[in-house]
Amino acid sequence: MDKAAMSKALKTCRTPFYVFDTDAAAAQVQRIRTALGPEVRLCYAMKANSFIVEALQPHVDGFEVCSPGEFRICRRAHIPPEQIILSGVYKRPQDLLFVMQQYGTAVTYTVESLQQWDIIRSFADQHQTPLRVLLRLSVGNQFGINESDIDALVAGRQDTKAVIEGIQFFSGTQKKSAARTAEELQKLDDLLERLHRVYGYTANRLEYGPGLPVSYFEAKSDVELSMLNALSDQIAHLRFKGTVVLELGRYIAAACGNYFTRVVDTKTQSGSRYCIVDGGIHQVNYYGQMMAMKKPPLLHWEERDGEAVPWTVCGCLCTGNDVLVKAYPFSDLRVGDVLIFGKTGAYSSTESMALFLSRDLPEVALYSKSKGLRPVRRALSTDVFNSPMKL
Ligand SMILES: Cc1ncc(COP(=O)(O)O)c(C=O)c1O
Repeated sequence: MDKAAMSKALKTCRTPFYVFDTDAAAAQVQRIRTALGPEVRLCYAMKANSFIVEALQPHVDGFEVCSPGEFRICRRAHIPPEQIILSGVYKRPQDLLFVMQQYGTAVTYTVESLQQWDIIRSFADQHQTPLRVLLRLSVGNQFGINESDIDALVAGRQDTKAVIEGIQFFSGTQKKSAARTAEELQKLDDLLERLHRVYGYTANRLEYGPGLPVSYFEAKSDVELSMLNALSDQIAHLRFKGTVVLELGRYIAAACGNYFTRVVDTKTQSGSRYCIVDGGIHQVNYYGQMMAMKKPPLLHWEERDGEAVPWTVCGCLCTGNDVLVKAYPFSDLRVGDVLIFGKTGAYSSTESMALFLSRDLPEVALYSKSKGLRPVRRALSTDVFNSPMKL
């Protein structure tokens, strides 16, 4: 998103607001594809940013969908069911039944518990429908099932119409060590090899969320690229010869987002300069930000000349934690100025404590060169969610 587009956004939208540059998200997908080669498929974990789903549809192979709400967003964006991986630790039986009845074998279902397996398997058998499932391997937390459970389901796979397509695995986000992904892939490769050897089972698909990292605070960093290249190399050396699907959220979406917020007040307290902005930490989320000490990508729109002095940028919530950045150098910062926080495309619009203080949900606009700036959400009042209703 260039400065002309930012200027247009400031004339069109009221702060605070996000602009998600869908060209940037698509270009990032292309960069990932170039590094990984044509064999590796890409699945967008839409929890990172659900506003760019429709724009990404022609570019990715699938969407990891973790709730009925995310499913409805996909349906409104006309995502073909064949591109949907219905995932998530809590799948209500009635929601699963609805999807299985409506979309059957088009959708792929992940299995995160034996209860989920029972519901899917029963439906498949009752309706003689070969529903396709991925068994999620647990890392020993609340997600997925144990390796011994995977063994049991694979051993009994002939007794059901449900088809075990392969394994899903995700252990965490923002991984900066290639040794970590290498170790995980090795473990998955060993598991698939063992399932083949012991049960004669050949998986078609390995669906892996590598948790690739985004450099939010470093002015220059090659960890993003080095992790992607290392991953590409690790995948090329797998013994598993089926389809590898990478589930990615942050790495696809982070750089496409800019968050615009306005300085609404300034003060000096005990020798420190503070500015209050109309946004805050309920709308901005930089993974790894430590007590606001780290400096995220930030543009002072008015960019005045003069000596830069340190400011602490605080949001509009009633908590001392609502600090976006400390000791950031600004020249002649004034009330009314706009601060633009970059790399806010992932987990800011979807993962923030949006209801605190009953502040409005911010406006959202999408931007692309061909379609220009398109407001897609007005500011929404949240007080209704925080007050008793007549039920
Ligand atoms: C199962 C699963 N896959 C993929 C992702 C995406 O992770 P990331 O945003 O680090 O790429 C998540 C994130 O929580 C996840 O839970």
